[in-house]
Amino acid sequence: ASGSVKSSPTRVQWSTRMAFVLAAVGSAVGLGNIWKFPYITGEHGGGAFVLVYLGCILIIGIPVMMAEIALGRRGRHNPAQGIAALVREAGAHPFWKIIGVMALLCGFMILTFYTVVAGWAFAYAPKAASGSFVGENGDAIGAMFGGMLANPLALTIWMTVVLGLTMAIVLRGLHGGLEKSINLLMPGLLILLLILVGYAMTSGHFMEGVSFLFKADFSKMTGTGFLVALGHAFFTLSLASGAIMTYGSYLPDNVSIGKTTMLIAIMDTVVALAAGLAIFPLVFANGLEPGSGPGLIFVTLPIAFGQMPFGSAFGTLFFLLLAVAALTSAISLLEPTISWLTEKFKMTRIKACLLAGSLLWIGGLGVVASLNIGSEWTLFGKTFFDILDYLTSSWLMPLGGLLMAIFSGWILNKTVMQDEIGLGTGIMYQLWLFTMRYITPLAIIVVFLNVLGVISF
Ligand code: PHE
Ligand code: NA
Repeated sequence: ASGSVKSSPTRVQWSTRMAFVLAAVGSAVGLGNIWKFPYITGEHGGGAFVLVYLGCILIIGIPVMMAEIALGRRGRHNPAQGIAALVREAGAHPFWKIIGVMALLCGFMILTFYTVVAGWAFAYAPKAASGSFVGENGDAIGAMFGGMLANPLALTIWMTVVLGLTMAIVLRGLHGGLEKSINLLMPGLLILLLILVGYAMTSGHFMEGVSFLFKADFSKMTGTGFLVALGHAFFTLSLASGAIMTYGSYLPDNVSIGKTTMLIAIMDTVVALAAGLAIFPLVFANGLEPGSGPGLIFVTLPIAFGQMPFGSAFGTLFFLLLAVAALTSAISLLEPTISWLTEKFKMTRIKACLLAGSLLWIGGLGVVASLNIGSEWTLFGKTFFDILDYLTSSWLMPLGGLLMAIFSGWILNKTVMQDEIGLGTGIMYQLWLFTMRYITPLAIIVVFLNVLGVISF
């Protein structure tokens, strides 16, 4: 990838390819896999939704991730200025700069609620450690979750802890320990999930869970289901929100984007499916409702931890690992804004962190309130939390993905992406280009038109 727009030799880069892979996997694997994937799968009827989601990962998520990393590396800046530089280089219409601006906005909006949900994971570690789940039934554990949501002070404290840690890590910059911590975290998380899958096998309802996850019954799919599955493919891979683009901007020129992307997507998908396999058998074994919403894992897993041998220890470890996985995603959500503030406005890193952190904290208070005292403050029936989630996952991210696909497939000079992606000029590259030009945009547009009622399937 020679001749990046502005190669600034002093800008930081990942020390190795592996450092980038770890950071990108750290960004991808998070609450999206373990908290969000199971509960939206439950809400949208299971198998058919999972199939659509996997299809979106394959024909939209993976090619868009390649494009986004390439755009980041080629731009060698924060999303807004990096995209602006590419637009200038290509002599394209200034409209396309919107890709970078939308990405920054989207990442910021996601982080506003991400810190609150990550706070739930933090709050559950000490609960598990003190044996709160031991011998409790589903009703009692459901009431515990409800009690936590009803407590604005506790939610605010945990949100503040998460935000503070995120700011502290981002403040230290790329090489400040981030690379190493993910090295331990990912295998640990996967092993614990597999232990939970093993426990789910003993629940007597394992096959029921498996068929809920993998038996596709398309009569249960709605237009909204398609949109949610599409949006989640973006969310879970950290796309169209500045995170992967910014991490790509620190990627050394000689790393193959194609192969690296496959690795990240496979890891992310494995963790999500493992979480599904661990949770749904327990949902059925305990007579819970698959569509019970955002509390699903916080009700299901504690029942298991309360019954299994060494459950308190496993539970503590699990929620701690989930919290750390959420932190490594939160870091990637904050970094784009920080790089924008420092590059564009020449702020120091600490000033940028304090400014962004203050705004995020205020936004976080709004999200906390929307779970209790402000649950009646709604717009189109959606609370502030719901609105942030809905606008980002269902609209901003797929729209950003659509724009990135058109921009990199049609607008940029062909050799630019060919250079960057590193798949050569043969069949793999041709396949990527064809997908980016036709399949990805068409698929996104069809899902949009379907949910808007213009067409219907
Ligand atoms: N991919 C993360 C997850 O699944 C969330 C995320 C979205 C992180 C967008 C960065 C950017 O939890
Ligand atoms: Na994910």
